[in-house]
Amino acid sequence: MPVSSHPTAIHWSVLGAARIALNQVIPAIQQVAGAELIAIASRDLDKARATAAHFGIPKAFGSYEALLEAPDIDAVYIPLPNALHAPWTIRAAQAGKHVLCEKPLALNASQVGEMIAACREHGVQLAEAFMYRHHPQIAQALERVRAGEIGTPRLIRGSFSFELNRPDDVRWDPALGGGALLDVGCYPVSAARLMFGAEPVKALAAATFTPRGVDETLAGVLVFPEERYALMDCSFRLPLRQGLEIVGTAGRIALSWPYNPGPRPTAITLVRGDEETTITVPPANSYALMVEAFNDALLSRRPLPYPPEDAQANMRALDMLAASARSVIGD
Ligand SMILES: NC(=O)c1ccc[n+]([C@@H]2O[C@H](COP(=O)([O-])OP(=O)(O)OC[C@H]3O[C@@H](n4cnc5c(N)ncnc54)[C@H](OP(=O)(O)O)[C@@H]3O)[C@@H](O)[C@H]2O)c1
Repeated sequence: MPVSSHPTAIHWSVLGAARIALNQVIPAIQQVAGAELIAIASRDLDKARATAAHFGIPKAFGSYEALLEAPDIDAVYIPLPNALHAPWTIRAAQAGKHVLCEKPLALNASQVGEMIAACREHGVQLAEAFMYRHHPQIAQALERVRAGEIGTPRLIRGSFSFELNRPDDVRWDPALGGGALLDVGCYPVSAARLMFGAEPVKALAAATFTPRGVDETLAGVLVFPEERYALMDCSFRLPLRQGLEIVGTAGRIALSWPYNPGPRPTAITLVRGDEETTITVPPANSYALMVEAFNDALLSRRPLPYPPEDAQANMRALDMLAASARSVIGD
């Protein structure tokens, strides 16, 4: 049901007892003022009930459909496997629920277009749960880039890899939208677009695919207008590492842990000539800041910081990289 004209709290719900929901986003929703988590659904009613009992969530549903029929729910957080983001976002929109959906918003840009259209038609908000952008380190780095502290940004390098050791993980399944590009490559791509403030016009990529056909390692180049380049890599087969470096005509900025720093303090390194400065950014809960931003938008306290069209543009860049990786020929 759309939020009434002067609501004081948003009634949240969760579709699926996903790891990311249990570990991060449910606790985040529960700590945001003006957000009330009132329901969770799982395909397995016992799991829904156990999760609800563990977190003190009042209602548990044994199907996603049943949750969406509940009239007192305003917003749905969707942490389902990637291939289910578009269908369940569209169903949630049809049920009149606002949607905060996990990254990447869908499998391709055209699906994101359908999600945006459905949400617009039903008068609900849609946001991609790209929590990394809500950490203050990103705002600080962006401010310095925009202020010209490194001159004109020309080159960005971004990486995100980890060892995915669970053979039954949804990320290995092509039918569920698996693969490193969609799972973690989406972060450096998003960060490059954000820091350049522009969209790529061309992409080149190469990847190693599993026998089932998902990319386990991918390295790519995005070409931006005015001779700007972003180099990115992502992998399920390399040690845990993250990086983001923005190189400009007068210096560079590097973030040590740009995407999910967790509770640790983070550092921004600013280099200009011989001068190197380290700016320490105190810990922050990016998940809670993301939920708060969406909740505030629903309460009409401030606009959505990132419209869903941003997710569509990110998906376009991911589509270009995926197409290039699949078309590389030669040994
Ligand atoms: N923003 C972040 O920091 C972050 C971090 C990790 C993951 N993510 C994103 O969150 C989403 C979920 O990732 P996750 O690691 O939390 O996944 P997960 O633990 O495998 O959870 C996915 C959930 O989806 C539900 N589901 C529905 N149909 C399914 C099917 N056919 N196969 C498997 N599960 C199905 C299941 O819930 P029920 O059985 O309870 O219905 C399952 O628990 C992905 O889109 C991922 O990209 C984001």
